[in-house]
Amino acid sequence: MPKDHALMPETLTLANARLILPEGEMVGRVTIKGGEIVEIAAGLAVPSGAIDCGGDIIAPGLVELHTDNLERHLRPRPSAHWPLKPAIAAHDAELAACGITTVYDAIRVGSIEGKGGVGWSRYARELADALLAMRAAGALKISHHVHLRAEICSETLIEELDQFGPDDRVGIMSLMDHTPGQRQFADIGQYRTYMMGKHGLSEAVFNEHVATRQALGARVRDSHENAAIEAAQRLGAVLASHDDTLVDHVVRSAAHGIALAEFPTTPEAARACRQHGIAVMMGAPNLVRGGSHSGNVSAMDLARADLLDIVSSDYVPSALLYGAVMLGETWGDLARGIATVTAAPAQAAGLVDRGRLAEGMRADLIRFKLAEGVPVLRGVWSAGARVA
Ligand SMILES: [Fe+2]
Repeated sequence: MPKDHALMPETLTLANARLILPEGEMVGRVTIKGGEIVEIAAGLAVPSGAIDCGGDIIAPGLVELHTDNLERHLRPRPSAHWPLKPAIAAHDAELAACGITTVYDAIRVGSIEGKGGVGWSRYARELADALLAMRAAGALKISHHVHLRAEICSETLIEELDQFGPDDRVGIMSLMDHTPGQRQFADIGQYRTYMMGKHGLSEAVFNEHVATRQALGARVRDSHENAAIEAAQRLGAVLASHDDTLVDHVVRSAAHGIALAEFPTTPEAARACRQHGIAVMMGAPNLVRGGSHSGNVSAMDLARADLLDIVSSDYVPSALLYGAVMLGETWGDLARGIATVTAAPAQAAGLVDRGRLAEGMRADLIRFKLAEGVPVLRGVWSAGARVA
């Protein structure tokens, strides 16, 4: 796999630390050089020149597969659009400060020309261009990849997908269907509350909106789904499902070769994922808040039922490490909790060079301690470079 950061020549040893290793915890030290982990050793010794971590925890840098955080920087207020490149720089710095060293930035493809402010406007190609330009300029602290969120029941999906090629770092393609009456919006009553609240629609406009979206979905769902699956192959992206609600959704995902399910909304769907060998990803805000903000299944309930594999920060970057620590406490195994935000997402995305503290891996590291049960970061390294 090509290295995507300038390699750091210096040697750095972080000693007297609780190392979160793939097989569990060990007190010891880790040495990095040239952007890679070159040595892991047990014991309390602090060699000369090493940093004494005083018992702090050292874990792999976090791997984030689905964040909406860039969108927040692009529109800090609902009607305030921010220039793309400064938004990307601020987003990148925020993620680094939260211990995230690899991110798949979620960008929607598939737009609907809006009537009455309820459409989705086109932005994917322009944003991806800005992201790739910032990366090429060496302006980014952490490793960025693109997660294309394919809105299947939209008007422009195919032409937007055609604008992407294999050099665009598209690592994940998720298949989404936000048609009213489907998946996340299975309950039309809840959808009415959400839409009428968010967009201030009248009853008549809401009803027309639902009818239009449902007709569009019926017309394009199958052909667009096939187009997105073909595009994922062409781009070399891992396929993910989104908002699986029914066992049938999971069966359909498995038939498409999907190995990652984003935010299944019911315990039945999560259990079906387990049976089909599909990794279950849930949102860290759901863990931290003790439930879904939209009434779906609780991530902690899935964790207790051993049905949660990967955690994503979704819309709160700082929730990622905190959510992993909460899982570690729930399971009585910090290393297992940390694996849901490191080894498991790296594996699901096909990244073999990171996600674990092991010799030869990328030097993506975080140093933190727990204060009042909250993880407090004390250092973040991305490919050996200190970024926070
Ligand atoms: Fe969704």
